[in-house]
Formats: sequence, C-alpha cells, structure tokens
Amino acid sequence: MHTIQDIDHLTGQRVLVRCDFNVPLDSNGHIVDDARIRAALPTITYLQQHDARIILLSHLGRPHNAADTQFSLKPVATRLAELLNHPVTFINESHGPRVLNIVNTMHNGDIIVLENVRFNSEEKGNDNERQHLAHEYAQLGDLFISDGFGVVHRKQASVYDIAQLLPSAAGFLIQKEVTNLNHILNNPQHPLTVILGGSKVSDKIGVITNLITTADTLLICGGMSYTFLKAQGYEIGTSLVEPNMITFAQQCLTQAKEQHTKLLLPTDLIVTDHFAADAQPTTVPATHIPATMMGMDIGEHTRQLFNTEIQKSSTIFWNGPAGVFEFPTFAHGTHALATSLQQATQHGAFTAIGGGDSVTAIHQFGFQESDFSYISTGGGASLNFLEGKLLPGLRVLD
Ligand code: 3PG
Repeated sequence: MHTIQDIDHLTGQRVLVRCDFNVPLDSNGHIVDDARIRAALPTITYLQQHDARIILLSHLGRPHNAADTQFSLKPVATRLAELLNHPVTFINESHGPRVLNIVNTMHNGDIIVLENVRFNSEEKGNDNERQHLAHEYAQLGDLFISDGFGVVHRKQASVYDIAQLLPSAAGFLIQKEVTNLNHILNNPQHPLTVILGGSKVSDKIGVITNLITTADTLLICGGMSYTFLKAQGYEIGTSLVEPNMITFAQQCLTQAKEQHTKLLLPTDLIVTDHFAADAQPTTVPATHIPATMMGMDIGEHTRQLFNTEIQKSSTIFWNGPAGVFEFPTFAHGTHALATSLQQATQHGAFTAIGGGDSVTAIHQFGFQESDFSYISTGGGASLNFLEGKLLPGLRVLD
C-alpha cells in the first residue's frame, strides 16, 4: 500500500482526504462521540505541518439527498476546528464550480470540510455515475489520501473511484487499522479468543466462518446467541431469532467440535417480558427461557465463564454488545465484558474492539482508549477485513 509518508512533496499541494466522520448525533444535532474525528487528526496534522492545502471529504449517516439536512457535516467542521485549535472552513457543497473557486484560493495549511458526499446519489451510484462524480472531485485535488477506514469496504466515488484518478496513498489511520487487524487475522498470539455479540448472526457469517479455524475460543453472546441456543434445541421464548440462520448455527457448532475450537454460549440470561428500559429483569438458565420472556443480557455466571476464558487468552477480539446496553438495567453484561478486556490488557494481552455498537458502549461506560490495545473505528469494515476479504478501498491503494 502506498502511504502518506511516501509522498515527497506536499507543500502547496491540494490534498483531498477521505475521512470517516460518520459520528453519532443526538436529536439536537450535537455530536455524541467524536472518536472518529479524533482518529483523523494525525493525518490532518501531518498535512498541516507539511504546508499542504487540506480538503476533507466524508459521509455522515445514510441521507436520501441534500434535503436531509440533519446529516450535514457542519457540526463536524466546528468540532474539528476545536480539536485542532485552528480555523476550519465548511462549504455546504461537496463539488462543483463554487467549491473549485474556493479551493483555488486556499493558502498552505488551510483546512476545508466539504458537505456530506452522500447528499449526491452518484456517490453510491453505478460505475458511470460514480466515475462522473469522481472526476468532479479530482478537479479539487492534486493528491488523494484515503483515511476513512470505516468506509473502505464500500465501492463509492469518494473512496474507490477517486483513487484511480489521482496519485493516492493511505493516511495514518488506515495504516494503523490494517496493521492491528492484520495482527489478529494473520499473526495472533495464541490462545486467540473471539467474542461476538450484537443482534444478527447474518452480519457475522463471514467472520465466524473465517475465524472458526484460527480462534481457540469463540464466545457468542447478545441477540445472536438466541439463534445458537435454538439451534441446540432449546426454547428461547420471545427472544430475537433468525430462523434462516439456525442451520448455519448448527453447522458452526459441529465444525467447532470437529476442530476443537471451544465455542461457548451463555449459560444464564437476564430476561424480561417486554422490551423497555424499565422492564423488570429476572435471571434464568439459558436452557430454560420461559415462553413469554425475552433475553436481554448475559447473566452473572456467563460473565464469569467468559471472563475466565478472556484472562487465559493472549489475543482477544470483541465485536458486538452482550445485551441491550442502551438500557442501564441490561447493560451489566456488556460492561462486564469491557472490564474483562481491560484487565486482560493490563496483564499483557492484545485486546482489540471493533464495531460501532461495542465502541459506543465502552465510551458510554467511560472506558478510555488506553484501557485496550486497540479500538477500531470500523464497524462493517473491520468485520469485512477479518472475513479475509480484499476491501475495494484498500485494494485501490495498492
Ligand atoms: C460505519 O459507520 O460503519 C461507516 O461509516 C460506514 O457507514 P455505512 O455503513 O453507512 O456505509
């Protein structure tokens, strides 16, 4: 992969940087978690120090068009200026003659944030549409730096097509993500434990299939564990289930047994009779979920069981919460997992967390980045990477 450090001459160059500023916003449009903006700082600061003219591109959310103004990148530009302690100009368009005029009057070290690239449907369009838009972007820059790791699994104009039109290289965030995820995928220190939670088995098929052979232990929790319990023949009450994934879950259980991969499911669960923050929690054995109850979190015995496995491991990767952590009553299992990983990190294990929800959870609980070896900014991208897939936004930088 070409890297930003390979570029000899940055002074005065117009550098287009694709970031992933897809940050969570509250109902008032305030940024809830600025981790993805902070993750972009090393590349932006490096370009500033090398007197480049910096033009930042990103998406935010999944808007239909420019009328979805709640997805504007304006609050991101404001937060970036605070973090850099440097002015950042926001332009409410992402391409076109007006943007080009402004870009051509930039001084060395200036920073511009363009409006959400997904306000234009061509960003995610067919080959012709994407290439047409990428040509527009290409007029704005002399160089392209790809640094939005969270979006490298998307074949989109500002991620993939643009890199075929301008001299391109990976920024510091992409380099860091690839190094850390490669470590888990290709060179993990064993025992390797993979913890998978979150609601859907279908989101994790690729990663389970790819890691079931390399991992020593797979810990399955969260909404996806009920499909596995069902696959073992247990009644799961009104818990989340993906009926079309039951066969896959059965195959995983068989394969794990054949390959001597330890696959552990919850042994006890916190259940309730309706999905609400104030619902009453009850602990039951995972094999006996009452017909009118739904699983909301892992129980105390499961937390201890999982903790024992985590403390025995040298490498741990975690994706997906253990329960409905958005409701404090049902957040204890996810909190316990984060605490177990924090302890393992202190004892020298390599711990990596990937995926939007688990990262949101640890920030919500008040853990620090330094409590873990690595926190990936990519949700789908980090899972796709661990599936062993060649991601379009990385392939194009080769
Ligand atoms: C993410 O949040 O995982 C990235 O920003 C990619 O967003 P997308 O799934 O909407 O493409």
